[in-house]
Amino acid sequence: MAEQLWKGRFSKAVDSRVNDFNSSIRFDARMIEQDIQGSIVHSEMLGRQGIISAQDVEQIHAGLASILKDLRSGALEIDPAAEDVHTFVEQTLTARVGDAGKRLHTGRSRNDQVALDIRLYLRQASAGLQQQLRELIETLCCQAEQGAGYVMPGYTHLQRAQPVTFGHQLMAYAWMLLRDLGRLRDATARMDAECPLGSGALAGTTYPLDRFYTAAELGFDAPCGNSIDGVSDRDFCIELTGAMATCMMHLSRLSEEIILWCSWEFKFIELDDAFTTGSSIMPQKKNPDVTELIRGKTGRVYGDLNTLLVMMKGIPLAYDKDMQEDKEAVFDAVDTLSLCLKTITPMLATMTPLPDNMRRAAAKGFINATDCADYLTKKGMPFRDAYKCTGTMVGACIDAGKTLEELTLEEFRSYSPLFDEDIYEAIDLTRCCEGRTSYGGPTKASVLRQVADVRQKLKETGGHSHE
Ligand code: ARG
Repeated sequence: MAEQLWKGRFSKAVDSRVNDFNSSIRFDARMIEQDIQGSIVHSEMLGRQGIISAQDVEQIHAGLASILKDLRSGALEIDPAAEDVHTFVEQTLTARVGDAGKRLHTGRSRNDQVALDIRLYLRQASAGLQQQLRELIETLCCQAEQGAGYVMPGYTHLQRAQPVTFGHQLMAYAWMLLRDLGRLRDATARMDAECPLGSGALAGTTYPLDRFYTAAELGFDAPCGNSIDGVSDRDFCIELTGAMATCMMHLSRLSEEIILWCSWEFKFIELDDAFTTGSSIMPQKKNPDVTELIRGKTGRVYGDLNTLLVMMKGIPLAYDKDMQEDKEAVFDAVDTLSLCLKTITPMLATMTPLPDNMRRAAAKGFINATDCADYLTKKGMPFRDAYKCTGTMVGACIDAGKTLEELTLEEFRSYSPLFDEDIYEAIDLTRCCEGRTSYGGPTKASVLRQVADVRQKLKETGGHSHE
């Protein structure tokens, strides 16, 4: 069974170490359903074109259907000694239906076959990731809706800067992830545009193949325009992994934020016990391992992208065996991102925001200092002077261990006669936040609008044929 398809020319068996080294079955077996799908369409086309007989087509289809059925039921196991998934399917088919099985590979090479299989596999994987991303984005929308009015400090340089809302901050991630969804969709649409099947080994074939038929049947817009490019293009692996790496970067930033927020130093949120772990020695510990693992795994996906880019940069046209390395990298990226999405979504859904702590932190950071300066400016003081005056006040407050809102009106007036009773309203945290009414800002209304806009965009992009 575990014989090479290409044995004819050789007088000696291949060294077992080379066999093991060369074999890809342990990682390409996951494409077996796609391999069968491609073979069904290829043989159908061979029959339609009169290249093989209708009877052969019938036997091939029956054989492939039985293989698929037995695989799914567990009656057929993949032979780990086979060179690759293509070899395994063809040899199993031939063992079951005889000569018709040997005709399946007419006008085809494993080079165009594998180029097709990875595309078909990634089409499905991308659809799965897109669905997971949608669920994560919706989870963020739900939390943002609930936290639309929770005032918290917004940070620059990780220093308290200006007041925002919890919902505002969460929606920033929703917009990032929406772009990730777009990138996956774009890359998938480009991958689905051109079908490599029929490129042969590299130079096409003398058989009268109908490449337009197979392309359409397999869900592509058209056959690829150049057979050399068809077998040697792995741009789609790189593009998709690039999109996945970017998405991991976003998940990692969000994870870092969660790690900070659930620390005692911040305590803006509480993670559900079911999504944290303890320490074997420190009884008080409740650790955000999920987010730390996501942060850690991000490097892995960057590594996958790097593997693909470096693998492709020096190989001459057309197919070279280096390209067999594409699969482990792109599969690892898919598996890693999928695993992270699967875990982070319920973790976020069950997290409890602690708005009182957020507000307390916002009150302490002089994040209403800009608003105090704006108050003076609106009363006629030039902004630069108002900035300086407020700076002096903040300095004095820090020395006295006070916040701006704790100053008496008299104390305010000692800095400028422009201060009046209404200063307290002007520097009230909720007011400061709600006053930032510019489009895309932190107000409750703006957050709710963002939630609605993001949901609308999810809806508009749902159910597209490329998913
Ligand atoms: N396992 C191979 C791969 O993944 C299939 C293509 C083999 N082609 C060849 N010319 N040896 O790339």
